[in-house]
Amino acid sequence: MNEVLQRRLAERRLQSRYRRRRVLESAQGPRLQVDGRDLLQFCSNDYLGLANHPKLIAAMQGTAAQFGVGGGASHLVCGHSELHHQLEERLAKITGRERALLFSTGYMANLGTVTALMGKGDHILEDRLNHASLLDAGLLSGARFQRFQHNDMADLERRLQKLPADGNRLIVVDAVFSMDGDMAPLPALAALAQKYNAWLMADDAHGFGVLGENGAGSAEFFDLGQQQLPVLMGTLGKGLGSFGAFVAGSDELIEALIQFARPYIYTTAMPPAVAAATIAALDLLVDEPWRRSHLQELIRYFRDKAIALALPVMASNTAIQPLLIGDELAAMALSSALEQRGILVSAIRPPTVPVGSSRLRITLSAGHSKADIDCLLAALVEALAA
Ligand SMILES: Cc1ncc(COP(=O)(O)O)c(C=O)c1O
Repeated sequence: MNEVLQRRLAERRLQSRYRRRRVLESAQGPRLQVDGRDLLQFCSNDYLGLANHPKLIAAMQGTAAQFGVGGGASHLVCGHSELHHQLEERLAKITGRERALLFSTGYMANLGTVTALMGKGDHILEDRLNHASLLDAGLLSGARFQRFQHNDMADLERRLQKLPADGNRLIVVDAVFSMDGDMAPLPALAALAQKYNAWLMADDAHGFGVLGENGAGSAEFFDLGQQQLPVLMGTLGKGLGSFGAFVAGSDELIEALIQFARPYIYTTAMPPAVAAATIAALDLLVDEPWRRSHLQELIRYFRDKAIALALPVMASNTAIQPLLIGDELAAMALSSALEQRGILVSAIRPPTVPVGSSRLRITLSAGHSKADIDCLLAALVEALAA
């Protein structure tokens, strides 16, 4: 086995696509201690700066003291604590859906939901830039699976028109595309879903907590209720600063997931203390709305300045502000040049993004200040001129 693996690993190295982990020696925040160095980071998904918030820490510690640490068993055996239940009720309320169901991770929520809803003889249509977990879910489901051009409603409609009459149809998109930062046109997707009798699922991993008046995410941003967007998935490890994920929708949807979603059924429940920390994060969406408005201000500030400096920004108005570089090696060289200047931004390259579209995935957080953004821009200008 090792010889086979060595060959495959060598091939990866030759392609310059070998990935390495960094060892973090501090909590999440704008400044990280990484491999013994202090770095100003623009690459985490802790968009609201909640991952190290004292209220989340206190909620976790207090709950662990009462409920212990381990989840103990799956939700269907004896792992479903009152804190999980409370969190599900809070998630249903904030998203304006009948019910919500917790999953241990977003990857599992996507895999579980798509495979529970779709099977042989059904049809899945996914945006070609969807997150890997949605693409994997489509393949695993056994349904007929096609990918439409990114955010291209005409292409999607052509494909819908050609579908045979039999089988259920599911359209699946990232609400905010994780590597591009742009949003899916959810109202247009909802209209097409209705016209062609398809179900619509949106993965709001990068919108939940951040977008919308109350932080309820992309569905709130576009004012789409359960009728128009029946399958809403969100994650809790990004904007909410905690861990886990959920799916929200009708009573029937949630009951079906409890019965049929294998990544829900066959896994240990997340620790109750994690659920408690997430409830604290939901409270902070109400108590500290400045986090969302400050983040929006930083996004505008970054874009205005980056455009004035002629940096290759992409068409995004969210906290994900990638700079399109194109060549993989050039993207990696720019990321290292920034790191030499004390700034951490990861280069994203194939297979995560299409060949020729390597980029620096800059992410902004409510924990950043305008001065932090000035530092980033100055380092970028210097690194690009070098
Ligand atoms: C769009 C999207 N969906 C799902 C996930 C998976 O969520 P989790 O990290 O909770 O597994 C991610 C990233 O991690 C993501 O970017």
